[in-house]
Amino acid sequence: MGIVNSFLSPGQFLFVFLSMIRVALMGTGNVAQHLFEAFLNHSQIEVVQVVGRNKKALEYFGKSTKTDSNAKFSEKADIYLIAVSDDAFPLMAYSIIGLNGLVVHTSGSSSLEVLPKTVRRGVFYPLQTFTANRTVDFTKIPICIEAENSSDINLLNTLASLLSNHVISVNSEQRSKLHLAAVFINNFTNHLYFIGQQISENAQIPFDTLFPLIQETANKLETLAPFDAQTGPARRGDAKTLKKQLRQLEKSDFKEIYTLLTRSIAKTYGQKL
Ligand SMILES: NC(=O)c1ccc[n+]([C@@H]2O[C@H](COP(=O)([O-])OP(=O)(O)OC[C@H]3O[C@@H](n4cnc5c(N)ncnc54)[C@H](OP(=O)(O)O)[C@@H]3O)[C@@H](O)[C@H]2O)c1
Repeated sequence: MGIVNSFLSPGQFLFVFLSMIRVALMGTGNVAQHLFEAFLNHSQIEVVQVVGRNKKALEYFGKSTKTDSNAKFSEKADIYLIAVSDDAFPLMAYSIIGLNGLVVHTSGSSSLEVLPKTVRRGVFYPLQTFTANRTVDFTKIPICIEAENSSDINLLNTLASLLSNHVISVNSEQRSKLHLAAVFINNFTNHLYFIGQQISENAQIPFDTLFPLIQETANKLETLAPFDAQTGPARRGDAKTLKKQLRQLEKSDFKEIYTLLTRSIAKTYGQKL
């Protein structure tokens, strides 16, 4: 994984300061909307078109740029960003095959190869969780870029560096591992919050009572490795508490998750339960 330096070469410097980067977007979902907002706020990026299949969703983009509801690009762009669901890539090939610019997707787990061979291909993966109506600070979001030649890497680096202070060059294999790590760190953790919310609210205790704990759990990673930060009955090998808590859980899925995570923690710290 290479950090693409945040200092621009003279060529890139000239490109950034003399040219506008023309971007066209496919997709109208969470990532498309967040990228669109970030691009609009940047004077050196012009969003020339947004295409998709959802007419209602396109109305939002249509206030500021051209749109097409047949998912067909008609405007010339330097970079075409494909921000659709991973499973839809093969279906979108018909809209991509003849494009002249650099075509990139925004997926963490999909290889660059999912894009048609007939175009210049790349990846522009912002490593963050994007949700409707949640503003994010793009300057802090790592943007993982990949392309098949150095001039396209430079172009993606230029675009990414206009948004973020943290641009990294990763290959498809590294990116899919990064995405796997992100699924554990974000998606699974959030599901555990959901379970915690159900348990606390069933006991008539507001979920926000647990907010300081959630915050400190994340904050302490600034100074401690996750291995050192672990606390709780499974790490201590506190068998009585573990049995009691397992009995307190009513749903069989939650019991299974509790048992599996307990086993993994105990094994990590050499506890025999
Ligand atoms: N959300 C995140 O946190 C996040 C972070 C980084 C990267 N990504 C990646 O970014 C990409 C987009 O994710 P997202 O979160 O923006 O997804 P999303 O909010 O679910 O939006 C998906 C978009 O794809 C379109 N789409 C789905 N199936 C389609 C099909 N068969 N034909 C045409 N269009 C189709 C949807 O159109 P309709 O509205 O008509 O269904 C919608 O515009 C994915 O590759 C994802 O892995 C997501």
